[in-house]
Amino acid sequence: MKRILSILIAAMAVSAPVLANEEFAKEKKCTKCHATDRVKTGPSFREMAKKYTGQADASAKLATIIIKGFKGTGEEMPANPQINEADAKTFANWILSLK
Ligand code: HEC
Repeated sequence: MKRILSILIAAMAVSAPVLANEEFAKEKKCTKCHATDRVKTGPSFREMAKKYTGQADASAKLATIIIKGFKGTGEEMPANPQINEADAKTFANWILSLK
């Protein structure tokens, strides 16, 4: 029974719609530290688009940062292990579409 329940929950998680926009950012609490056009604790999404556009594997790089967190020159961004790779990639592509 427990096994069936966990399969059901997993299936629901897979079929949930992917939120690849500001709604995703809000739901995943990115907006606590980031905004599209404004610097908060971290850089704006548009700045990220400018920085990564043209780099090889830009969307994969961004997706890794989204899941694992990031430490550059500023305050450290915490990891987001609750975000799956597909959602991270979709959101990364949305960031890259902003430039
Ligand atoms: C607690 C605050 C906080 C939260 C929440 C947060 N970030 Fe960040 N993020 C930062 C900070 C601060 C930096 C810059 C770190 C540095 O430069 O050292 C950063 C950097 C980044 C970068 C890399 C930018 C670069 O210059 O390379 C990406 C991409 C990013 N965040 C995406 C996200 C996404 C997507 C979410 C939501 C899933 C998120 N962040 C949630 C604080 C946060």
